[in-house]
Amino acid sequence: MVGDDPALQAAYLLCRARTKQQDPAEYALIQLVPAVLRPACWALWTAANALDDLADDRTAESEERAARVGEWISALDHELATGTSTDPIRLALVDTAWRWRLDISQLHNAMTLVQHDAHGRQFTDWSSWRAWGRGNLLPWFDQVRDLFDRAGVAVTLRLDRQDVYEQFLDGVRLTDILTDLSADLAQGDLLLPGQSLDQFPGSADDLEQRRWSPSTAGLITDLTGLARRWVTQPALTRGMHPGLATVLDTMADLLRAQLDAVSAAGPTLFHAPPRPSFVTTARLLAPARARAALAWSLTEVTVPPPRRPRHDTVLTQRPRAQRPAFRSPPPHPSGERPPQIPVDQMPTHVAVIMDGNGRWAQQRGLPRHEGHRTGRSAAYEMVYGALEIGLRHLTLYAFSTENWKRDDEEIGTILALLHQELREYPLEDLDVRVRWHGRPDRLPQDVIDLMRMRESSTRDRSGLTLTTCINYGGRDEITRTATALARRVRSGQLDPDLISETDVAQHLPQPDMPDVDLLWRTGNEQRISNFLPWHTAYAELYFTADYWPETDRRHLWQAISEYTRRQRRHGAPLTAVVSHEPQQP
Ligand code: IPE
Ligand code: IPE
Ligand code: MG
Repeated sequence: MVGDDPALQAAYLLCRARTKQQDPAEYALIQLVPAVLRPACWALWTAANALDDLADDRTAESEERAARVGEWISALDHELATGTSTDPIRLALVDTAWRWRLDISQLHNAMTLVQHDAHGRQFTDWSSWRAWGRGNLLPWFDQVRDLFDRAGVAVTLRLDRQDVYEQFLDGVRLTDILTDLSADLAQGDLLLPGQSLDQFPGSADDLEQRRWSPSTAGLITDLTGLARRWVTQPALTRGMHPGLATVLDTMADLLRAQLDAVSAAGPTLFHAPPRPSFVTTARLLAPARARAALAWSLTEVTVPPPRRPRHDTVLTQRPRAQRPAFRSPPPHPSGERPPQIPVDQMPTHVAVIMDGNGRWAQQRGLPRHEGHRTGRSAAYEMVYGALEIGLRHLTLYAFSTENWKRDDEEIGTILALLHQELREYPLEDLDVRVRWHGRPDRLPQDVIDLMRMRESSTRDRSGLTLTTCINYGGRDEITRTATALARRVRSGQLDPDLISETDVAQHLPQPDMPDVDLLWRTGNEQRISNFLPWHTAYAELYFTADYWPETDRRHLWQAISEYTRRQRRHGAPLTAVVSHEPQQP
C-alpha cells in the first residue's frame, strides 16, 4: 500500500491515528473510499489540520504562530522538490504528492490564508466569510478530486454545479464553526460574520461572555438552519460515480447529524463541542459501508507506478529524473527537421487563429465541415512541430463565442469532432499538457467532462502546454476577470484604488498563461477576431494566406523563423531593444 519503507509506514500510521482521534467522522468517511486511496486522504487531512493547529496554538503569540506556519510551508516547498522530510506529517504529504502526481503547489494560497488566520479573523459580511472559507477549503478538496482522477475514477463534477459544490463546502465550514464554538470563544475568536450577528441584537456580547440568551438561541437556530440547507444539495451527487456519491451523501448525513447535536446542545454549546450519539452515526455508517463496498467492487481503481525510489535515497534526485519517457512526435513525411532557433530568440508562446477551413472545403466543392475534419490533422501537425522545435506554449483558437452564429449542422460537426478527439486523444503518450480555455455554458457536458479529464491526466507534463480555446471570447475573458476583481473588492481583500496590471493578470481565468509572443493567423484575413486581447497586447502579428487544412508543421517553423527576424521594442528606443535579427550566416 505504501511500500515497505518503515519511516513512511510510520508516517502514514501517524496520520491515520490523528485523523481517527481528532475527527472520527472524517475517519469513518475515509473508510468509505477504496483502501489504496486512504493513506493519501489521511495525509491530506492530517496536514491541513496540523497547519490549523499551528495557527491556533494559543501557547504562542500571534506573530510567533504565523511564523511557525510560514516555516512549515517553506519547509514543505523545499521538501516537495527533494521528495523527503524529517517531519512525519509532511513526509506522508510529500509522498502522497509524488506517488499520485498531485500538484501540491495549488495548496499554497490556502496555506498562506492559514498563516494570516494566526492573527485572528473578523468578517463583516457573508461574502467575505465565504471568500475566506472557500479559499481555505476548496484547494484541499480539489486535491482529493485529483487523487480520484489519478486513480482512474474521474470526479466529473458538472461545471454547472460548481456553485452547488461550493455552497456545500460553505455548509461544511459553518458546521465546523458551530461545533467548535466553545473552543473558539474560549480563545476570544468569533468566526461568524457581523452581518449575521447584527440580526440578533446583543448576540455578539452574549457570545463573548458565553452567555446563553434568547438572542444567541435565535442566532444558533438561524445558523444551523442555514448550514443544513447548504449541506443538503441533492444535485451534487446526481450522475456521479456511486462510490463517490456514497461518500459525499454520507458526509452530508453526518453533517446533518452534527447539526442536530448543535441544535440540541442549548447552553452547553458554549462550553463543549456537541457530538451526535454513537448509535446515530452507526445507523448512518453501516449501510453506507455496504453501499460503498459494492460500488467500488465494480470499479477498477488504478494505482500509478512508484514515481520515486525510497525517500531516503531521493535527496540527490530531482523530480524530473523520474519523469516517464514520452514518445517522440512522428517525423514530417518530407523528413524535414525544425530549424535551429537560438534559445534567446525562441518565442515562449505562439497563438494561432486556425482560419480558412470553410473556404478550403468550398473551394473543393465539399461541405464546410469537411474543412474542419481535415483541419484537425493540421492541428496535430502543429503540436508535433512545436514539440520538435522546443516551443513551450502553443494556443489554438478552435471555436469562438461568436461561432455560435453558424448553422446547427456546422456547429454540431465541430463539437462532434472535438468530442471524438478528446475521447481518442492521440496525443496521450506525448509530453503535452493540455488545457482548455473558454466558457462552459452551451458546450455539451460530455465535452466539458472529457476536457477536464484530459487536463487533469496531463497536468504534470512539462514539455509543451497546449491550450485549446473552445467557446472562447476575449471580451468574455476580460469581463470574467472584472467580475473576479469586483468580488475581491467586495470581500475587502483588494483596494480598488490599488488595482495593478498584475492584479488583473492574476484574476484572468488562466492566470498562468504567458503573454503571446507571436500571433499567427492563416486563411488570408488580417484581424484578431476577439482572440486573447490581454495576452496579445505586445504580440508580433503574422498573417498567411494558406487555408488552415493545407498547413503543416513547416508553416509553424516558418512563422517562428519570421519571428526571430522581428525587432521587439516594447516601447523602448531602438538601441535598447532585444533584437531578433537573423543570425549571421
Ligand atoms: C476556422 O475556419 C475554424 C472555425 C472558426 C471553427 P472557418 O470555418 O472560419 O473557415 P472560413 O473562414 O469560413 O474559411
Ligand atoms: C476566428 O475565426 C475563430 C476561430 C478560428 C475559432 P472566424 O472565422 O470565426 O473569425 P471571423 O468571423 O472571420 O472574424
Ligand atoms: Mg473564418
